[in-house]
Amino acid sequence: MPVENRLAELLACARCDASPLQQRKDQYRCKACKTEFPLIGDIPWLFADPESSLGEWRNRLHFALQQLSHEAQRLKAELIAEDRRPLTRRRLEQQMSATETHRNMLRQIMTPIDVQSMHASYESHIAMRTRLPTDQGLNTYYANIHRDWVWGERENDASLAQIREVSSGNPALGDTLVLGAGACRLAYDLHMQLATERTVATDFNPLLLLIAGQVVLGEKLKLYEFPIAPKSLDDFALLRTLRAPDVVRDDFYLVLGDALRPSFVARSFDTVVTPWLIDIVSEDFPRFAARVSGLLKPGGRWINFGSLAFDHPERARRYSPEEVLVMVEEAGFGGLAVRQASIPYMCSPASRHGREETVFTFCATKEKEVDTPPRHKALPDWLVTTKEPVPLLPSFKTQALSTQIYSYIMSLIDGRRSIRDMAKILEQQKLMTKKEAVPAIKNFLTRMYDDSQKNAGF
Ligand SMILES: C[S@@+](CC[C@H](N)C(=O)[O-])C[C@H]1O[C@@H](n2cnc3c(N)ncnc32)[C@H](O)[C@@H]1O
Repeated sequence: MPVENRLAELLACARCDASPLQQRKDQYRCKACKTEFPLIGDIPWLFADPESSLGEWRNRLHFALQQLSHEAQRLKAELIAEDRRPLTRRRLEQQMSATETHRNMLRQIMTPIDVQSMHASYESHIAMRTRLPTDQGLNTYYANIHRDWVWGERENDASLAQIREVSSGNPALGDTLVLGAGACRLAYDLHMQLATERTVATDFNPLLLLIAGQVVLGEKLKLYEFPIAPKSLDDFALLRTLRAPDVVRDDFYLVLGDALRPSFVARSFDTVVTPWLIDIVSEDFPRFAARVSGLLKPGGRWINFGSLAFDHPERARRYSPEEVLVMVEEAGFGGLAVRQASIPYMCSPASRHGREETVFTFCATKEKEVDTPPRHKALPDWLVTTKEPVPLLPSFKTQALSTQIYSYIMSLIDGRRSIRDMAKILEQQKLMTKKEAVPAIKNFLTRMYDDSQKNAGF
């Protein structure tokens, strides 16, 4: 069987779930709904709405490139000042040069998604309810790249050791799907060091997978690291070489797509691994657990690994380990093996920043089928259909009022008026008393000022 078909038989349409997908030279195609899924740098782009998601990631790329241009300009402007100390000048020069080079490198790596012929359609995303989370930028997990392929040996080994331990009763993982695989080191280590058959590593961030795709094939890729808390003057921007210990063996595949709209045939994996994922996806955990179950064969295993720091606005959804384990059982899993261990996390040798994290690892066996959850909807009906009333959420109410006042204050900034002058106007307009207005304007302008001083970099 040709190598590609060993992946193709696991794939299903992310839009309508039909399978198999037709495999063509430069795309996969769903015969049922006629959706065409391009290859992006040889990696199948299996989002439910391929064009819109490409548009969204392209926008994120352009935004990141713009930020880098601004950063380089800002560094240049600061360099021009005459009274810079020689060491400061040296650091700024290094940073400016690194930022400019990094911009070109990023653009180069991302060339496959910068396809001008495809048009972003925000509307179509909305209709499909597949909009990507707005807090996920291209560089959200940039540090993972260097941890995975440059300096993270201790962390990477400790991660693999956790998985080895929870699965030690039966070390043969079989066909394995890694959801939210990031820069893919764990998926690579599982494939190279544990008994997996086919390993499919999937993520929705194209930067991470495009890099992983080159590195696992033995490429030595140069990429800047920008440590959070540089240890010395020369550690602000370091040109690193990303490399894998060995060229990956056959049957290792990358797939770009959304874990909440998985593009895989139901019940086709022996193992699903969720590393550092369950607490960051927007889907409520019980539903996500049922989704994982749907991907597993009867008797298949779910291995979870990573942090447990659910950050949902609803307190009831910020689950403890105890609640998580109950919900795993409710999703039809049994035979739970659980480990909690402290491992190093993001300890770059060039940064003072880095921490220990108590990771939560479990391995659970699928004992019962549960109902497959409906397709994930990223947006509520009133935003999609446009026919239903927009709910007057308490946060909308507060925002509406403060936005009105804030925009009025903004309109008063003319480079001449002081805070007291503005307060007088707010009082004349009967929006606030002068006593209330001065601290309110001060608070608001302090936030605006803080924002203007924030670093937009990595
Ligand atoms: C905390 S990082 C962990 C990365 C990697 N698993 C590791 O252990 O280093 C979370 C990863 O999940 C990916 N991710 C988050 N939500 C996702 C989704 N809905 N579908 C696919 N990937 C997602 C992010 O792009 C990121 O790479």
